[in-house]
Amino acid sequence: MSMRQSTVICVCGAGTMGSGIAQLSAQAGFTTIQFDVSEPMLEKSRQQIIASLDTLVTKGKISSDEKAGTLSRLHFTSDIQSCRADVIIEAIVEKMEIKTTLFTQLAAINSPSTILASNTSSISISSLAAGIPHPERVAGLHFFNPAPVMKLVEIVKGNATSQQTITQLRELAKAMGKTTVVCKDAPGFIVNRVARPYYLEALRLAEQGFTHPAQADRLLEATGFKMGPFKLMDLIGMDVNFAVSNIVWEALGQPPRLKPSALQQQKVSEGNLGRKTGKGFYEYN
Ligand SMILES: NC(=O)c1ccc[n+]([C@@H]2O[C@H](COP(=O)([O-])OP(=O)(O)OC[C@H]3O[C@@H](n4cnc5c(N)ncnc54)[C@H](O)[C@@H]3O)[C@@H](O)[C@H]2O)c1
Repeated sequence: MSMRQSTVICVCGAGTMGSGIAQLSAQAGFTTIQFDVSEPMLEKSRQQIIASLDTLVTKGKISSDEKAGTLSRLHFTSDIQSCRADVIIEAIVEKMEIKTTLFTQLAAINSPSTILASNTSSISISSLAAGIPHPERVAGLHFFNPAPVMKLVEIVKGNATSQQTITQLRELAKAMGKTTVVCKDAPGFIVNRVARPYYLEALRLAEQGFTHPAQADRLLEATGFKMGPFKLMDLIGMDVNFAVSNIVWEALGQPPRLKPSALQQQKVSEGNLGRKTGKGFYEYN
């Protein structure tokens, strides 16, 4: 399969990442199915995509016809039976068992050549592929937030991933206008591994009373980072960032320097997950 416009993409998950990836895919000209178990999340995603396309039209970046074309290629469903595609991009909760169950269900209703790509930030691709029929078509396809804007995509090669799968995913990401890097299946891959102390040290300083979120963000941004660590955690989602910290910490043998933060755990318990819930370290309207 080469990545032509007739290629059908199914994006599973309509949250922060799934919504952005579905928009990107439809804008790139692919028929795109967006699947989520939650109808409200599907509707929220649809509204977000329309708002995002409207902004692009207002800014003169796309025409009204391109907006209409993008929306005509997007299909929203909560029925897994509709998830038949050439490439599946999974962007659901960062939990191994839930992702494995989904891939198993999708493998049963799709062709053996359908690529099963995961947008996971931290779960081992080799572990995810184990037990899935034809594990050579399972890989990581890790977009960054917000997916329509951020140029980088990490393509993660698990133990069983074939070179053909990697080549096809490279071609797909390129057709979506992305820059790709092929990574090994190490905990946190490359970007999330390097970025972990950025969040964790900032959280530790705040926990110990040496700084507070607004000050730390102001300082880090003044040194040249595009977003301070607390603003970034609010954008990512506290639950996702906390899950990634736990997975990387466990996978590396629980090193003290990467111990997940009690302050972040508290935010997760309170349901203050960041922008997606309207409150995290900051409040949003
Ligand atoms: N948030 C980020 O900045 C970011 C960046 C890169 C990668 N990721 C990764 O992307 C994935 C999704 O993260 P997110 O931030 O979009 O999460 P999110 O919490 O915003 O959305 C997750 C969505 O998955 C849906 N879902 C849960 N179980 C499902 C199932 N079995 N089938 C279908 N849908 C299901 C939920 O209803 C929800 O809409 C995670 O693996 C995360 O690690 C996140």
